[in-house]
Amino acid sequence: MAEQAIRILPELPANMRANRAFLRRAVRYMISQGVRQFLDLGSGIPTVGNVHEVALREAPDARVVYVDNDPVAVAHSQSILEQVDAATVVQADITDADAVLGHARSHLDFTRPVGVLMVALLHFVPESADPAGVVARYRDAVVPGSFLAISHGTADEQGERGRAMEALYSRSANPLVSRDRAAVERLFDGFEIVEPGVVFVPLWRPEPGTLPSGTPPERTATYAGVGRVR
Ligand SMILES: C[S@@+](CC[C@H](N)C(=O)[O-])C[C@H]1O[C@@H](n2cnc3c(N)ncnc32)[C@H](O)[C@@H]1O
Repeated sequence: MAEQAIRILPELPANMRANRAFLRRAVRYMISQGVRQFLDLGSGIPTVGNVHEVALREAPDARVVYVDNDPVAVAHSQSILEQVDAATVVQADITDADAVLGHARSHLDFTRPVGVLMVALLHFVPESADPAGVVARYRDAVVPGSFLAISHGTADEQGERGRAMEALYSRSANPLVSRDRAAVERLFDGFEIVEPGVVFVPLWRPEPGTLPSGTPPERTATYAGVGRVR
């Protein structure tokens, strides 16, 4: 599957690294805004620069709840987190916000700001599962001063390869739903979108070395943005 995806989008490995780099920048940005608690939805298989590692480096009092519905991802996370008091992992479907929030409330203090992370997640949530409604459930559960980070696959500016990627994923266990910029912006309904808005992922508050050299940002086929709860 990965090999086929790379044939369609040769930059895919670099794009995945660009997505993880956005995750780290978003966490550091939220910490700079006073956030000390993170709810990482669709956290995936742990890799370099996990949210708790970035957060604890910046703020030793940080706490993290990871959520994924994939038992393999959860098992790997459990083994990584065995010795880490500040972070825990829950196996749940993020569209069941009541269940996820029930677990999260026993680890995080919802009277204080929470950084909600939906990084490379919502393109796996079809319209029939109401992604905007799901985001709204988390938005309404957190206090003003909380944040939401989203990165999201798009077919914008991708031409034929956007359609080819969707067709490939449609034959997998995780069909992909590309959304255009306006649709990604709508997911931030009720949030104040922070500068620079919803942009191709390397353009979100880049740091030195953020852009893979010579690769145009739109080749990432991924939008990113961060919103603040008013
Ligand atoms: C592309 S990975 C992203 C992982 C990580 N957030 C990152 O950006 O590196 C998407 C993850 O979302 C998880 N996922 C997809 N749909 C989900 C759902 N409805 N509930 C919980 N997790 C979900 C998948 O199992 C997968 O681990």
